[in-house]
Formats: sequence, structure tokens, C-alpha cells
Amino acid sequence: MPKKKQKLELTWIGKDEQPQLEPRILIEDPSKSYGDSNAENMLIHGDNLLALKALEQEFTGKVQCIYVDPPFNTGQAFQHYEDGVAHSLWLTLMESRIEFLFRLLSPTGTLWVHLDDNEVHYMKVLMDQTLGRSRFISSIVWRAADSSNNDAKQFSLDHNTILVYAKSSDWESFLLPRQDKDNLHYSNPDDDPRGPWFQGNLSSPNPRENLRFDVSSPQGYVIHPPSNGWRWSRERMNSMISTGEIAFSSDGTRVMKKTYLANQKGLSPSSLWSDIEDTGHNRQAKYELKKLFPDTPTAELFKTPKPERLIYKILQIATKEGDIVLDSFLGSGTTAAVAHKLGRRWIGAELGNAYSEACIPRLRKVCDGTDQGGVSKLIEWVGGGGFKCYELAPSLLKSDTHGNWVISDEYNADMLAAAMAKHEAFNYSPDAEIYWKQGKSSDKDFIFTTTSFVQVAFLDRLHEEMQEDEHLLICCKKFSAPCARRYSNIEIRKIPKMLLGKCEFGRDDYSLNIVNVPTEEDAPAFVPQGPPAAPTAKPKPKRKKGGRPGLSQPDLFGEGTAE
Ligand SMILES: C[S@@+](CC[C@H](N)C(=O)[O-])C[C@H]1O[C@@H](n2cnc3c(N)ncnc32)[C@H](O)[C@@H]1O
Repeated sequence: MPKKKQKLELTWIGKDEQPQLEPRILIEDPSKSYGDSNAENMLIHGDNLLALKALEQEFTGKVQCIYVDPPFNTGQAFQHYEDGVAHSLWLTLMESRIEFLFRLLSPTGTLWVHLDDNEVHYMKVLMDQTLGRSRFISSIVWRAADSSNNDAKQFSLDHNTILVYAKSSDWESFLLPRQDKDNLHYSNPDDDPRGPWFQGNLSSPNPRENLRFDVSSPQGYVIHPPSNGWRWSRERMNSMISTGEIAFSSDGTRVMKKTYLANQKGLSPSSLWSDIEDTGHNRQAKYELKKLFPDTPTAELFKTPKPERLIYKILQIATKEGDIVLDSFLGSGTTAAVAHKLGRRWIGAELGNAYSEACIPRLRKVCDGTDQGGVSKLIEWVGGGGFKCYELAPSLLKSDTHGNWVISDEYNADMLAAAMAKHEAFNYSPDAEIYWKQGKSSDKDFIFTTTSFVQVAFLDRLHEEMQEDEHLLICCKKFSAPCARRYSNIEIRKIPKMLLGKCEFGRDDYSLNIVNVPTEEDAPAFVPQGPPAAPTAKPKPKRKKGGRPGLSQPDLFGEGTAE
């Protein structure tokens, strides 16, 4: 018997059970859209799996950077399941989303998944399996807590991990701008006209006999090579001496490699993000929200935001102006806010109340320029732009009292035409003059949806209008039998029969209801550097029974918090 081919794999209850998702249309809610009406930024309300499916047709291969910060599965999310099932459900939930997200990425795009120790290692294996191990770029350790928890019985868990995957394994990051602190080791003790420099390494990293040769200084000293040999060949050394890149000490006894600040490019990003001035921390993120919504009681503010500086760094590394950024676990809207301020085009999806209570008011303030917190001052944000708000359309079919699938009465003619175009992979773009050209899949292939009874006379008229090489798909509720094969370039099908079995109708939520994970309520207030604020005495954070110590993204704002 042939040996079963074995492979390294992670399995769990429900693995590979992928739902057959209905491709919903998105319906703009103009009463919520805001600012510049030409803006293409999209804020979507609803379950992100359906939202991603809705975006699939238009955005596959177009998104440059996806950042997601899903619920961490801290053990409180699936209260009604035992632990093993809870992990399985979480993984199943993420598996399908990761696949969809990856499809949307452009060939040079990256996917960033923010988690903590609860699931990150499982997620790494899942992503390796689903996306391919070669696409793994790095796991970034982000310092999430600005101070450690001394009540922790084991470790104070102070970091989160961000897994970075790229569509292509030879993805290259944008370089980060140098800051003054990055240049401290440059100086100009000899008033070199080329400016500050530092002494670079002259020694070969590995022993190389052919690079072991003596060098003579202008003062006549013979300088012996380092034990591994020089870094460069004799010819290259001579040329560097002639350009001044390699210089001799004033007494001629030493040779120096001058690395000039002026020649330095930006910095490659490090995988360790521990400088809270640079990438913020959880309490700062809450402080940012408190400043944005000073009248909202602290207990009602969104519980698990991320700081704008964190997203700022990610977008600097992974995107340029005009690129599309997507976050399908948008929460309080941090990714959208930072992408907006940086001139990126953004798409966000959020299922919970945060959509109307945090995302919309926050992004309005961003457009108005009245949000001067987060990275606004750093990048001199003054406002501008706009966004459109969308709801997922209801399911196209519903089951009637006899258990038969019928077209939902929430659909008007336009919605039905748009939905049918989406189901049949046509681009919905009604022609201004030719009514039956409602959508197309190529220059010659069109779709037309009607709720009327289609008969031969109507079909004949349509055929007369069509060019010989054009093809038309008609979707209708009913047609007379002779229409079926009357013209080879007109295909006619019935709704809803043509749709049945293709996907799951009538289901609006694939989220398993993990929305906001409860967090601890009391911990010291974060007071940023800058204008002084009266310190508020706070009791020490209590450790929750059975909860993990340290990093539970506590709710840190008591009444009387700074500013
Ligand atoms: C940790 S929060 C994200 C916080 C966000 N990064 C921020 O800075 O505010 C996770 C968010 O995912 C949302 N969420 C969970 N399941 C979802 C789903 N199936 N579809 C859309 N949003 C979902 C939750 O409502 C929650 O707001």
C-alpha cells in the first residue's frame, strides 16, 4: 500500500469549513457619508466576511496594505464554549478572513495581523499554511504597555506581536526617515567639508586570505591588515583612499573608513518596536480617544483602540500616497484616521456599535481638521477629504412561508440589477442610452435583469438592437418557452432558480458575535508629555480572576483624567 503523504499541518475542529458567501452589494447611506463627495474612502457597516466578499470583485489585487487587529481571543470572547472549541472557532473565523484579505492585496502589498500571545503562534502556522511560508516577512514585537504589571505572578505581558506577510516574497519596505536620534554617532572632529561622519568597520566579516595585504600611509608607515583581512580588495581600497572615503589618522599610523551622514539613506525598519515615543502604547491610544470625545463617559469609550503612531509607522513602511489601505476590524477607526491624514485611500469595515459611536464621529473630525490629536500635529494635518458610508444590502433571497426562496421585497429594480450583475461576475455600469446594457464582463458581454415576463416579441426587438458579436445574459423572473433557444447570443435564465445552490442566502452574520472583549476598568491614567496636567491618584490595577495579567488593554480613564 502506498504510504500516505504526510505534511506538517495545524488542524482544528471546523478547519476548511468555508462558508459559501453571498456576494452582497454595498448601499451608500448618504445621510452618514461626509465631506468631499468625490472621495473614494469607504466605511462599511457589517460583518467583515460579507464585506470582504462584497469588495472582492472591485478590489482584488488592488489593496496595498491591510492592517487588522482582530479580537485577541482572550478567553472571554466565546463564553459559551469550552476552551478547545473556542480556539477552533477563532481559527475558523480567521482562516476564511485571511484568505479573502490576501486575495485583495496588490502584487506589492502586505498584510499585517496584530495579536497577542493568546493566538499569535497558532495564527502564524495558519497563515504559513494558508498563504505559503515564503510569504512570511517578519513578526514585529510592539511594546503595548508603557509600564509593567508588578502584580503579575508569572510575566507581565507587555508586548503584542504583529505578523507581516507579503504577496510577494521579494517585497521591499520603504525606508523610514532618519531622525536626530539616529544620527548621534556622527560627528565632524576634523572639520571635514563633507560633513559629519563616523568610523566604519574596515575588517572583512569572514577570514579572507586574499584581502590580507599591507597599506602604506603618506607618512610612510606600513599598516597591517586586521586578522580577517580588509573588507575590500587592494584596488578598491586604493580608489577609496583617493576619494577620501578611506583616510589616515593625522600621525599616519591608522587607517579609517569614513561613513558620511550625507550619504545615508533612510532606515530599514527594525522588528522591535519598543520606543513608546515612536510607536505609542495602549494607554496613549485611549488617551487619544478621550481627547477626541471629551464628553463621552470614559466607560463608554471604545475599549481597545491602537495608537495612531503605530499605524503611522506601518503605513510609512508599507505604502505611499494614494495607495489603498484596508482594515476589516476597524474598531474606533484608527487605521482609517491615520490613512486619511497621510493621503492614502482607505476602506474600513466594522460590525459593532463602534461604527456609529466611534468611526463616523472620529472620521468627521479628521475631515474637518478638528482632530488635532494622534499624528495630526506631527504631519501638520489641517483637514480635508471625505468618506462614504455603506451598509451591506440585505440577502437577495428570502425563504417564504412555504419554504421557497423568493426575491427579497427589500430589493428595488436597481438593487436587483446590481446584485445580479455581481452574482454573475459582471461589472454593474448601466449604459446611459442602451437600457439593456446594465453591466458588462467584457466589451461584448452584457447583462440585463428584469422582473417582467420576457416574451418572444421583446426578445426579437432586443436582438435587432444588438451587434452580431455581442452577447447578452438576461436574468428574469419568468420567460415564455420559445425564448429559451431563440438566439445563440442571448442566454436567458430565471431568478431565483439560477442562484440556488451557488451560495448561502439569508445569513447576515459570520462573526460568532465576538465583538468587544471586556477589559479591566481601573488603572492609572496616561498623561502624555507636554502641557502639564494634575496627576490623579489611582488605585493599583486589580488582577481579574482567571484573566491574564499585564496586557489586557485596560480601561484607564477615570473621571478627572488629564486635559
Ligand atoms: C481590537 S478591535 C480593533 C481596534 C482598532 N484597531 C482600533 O484602533 O480602534 C476589534 C474590532 O473588530 C470588530 N469585529 C469583530 N468581529 C468582526 C466582524 N466579524 N466584522 C467586523 N468587525 C468585527 C469588533 O467590533 C472590534 O471593534
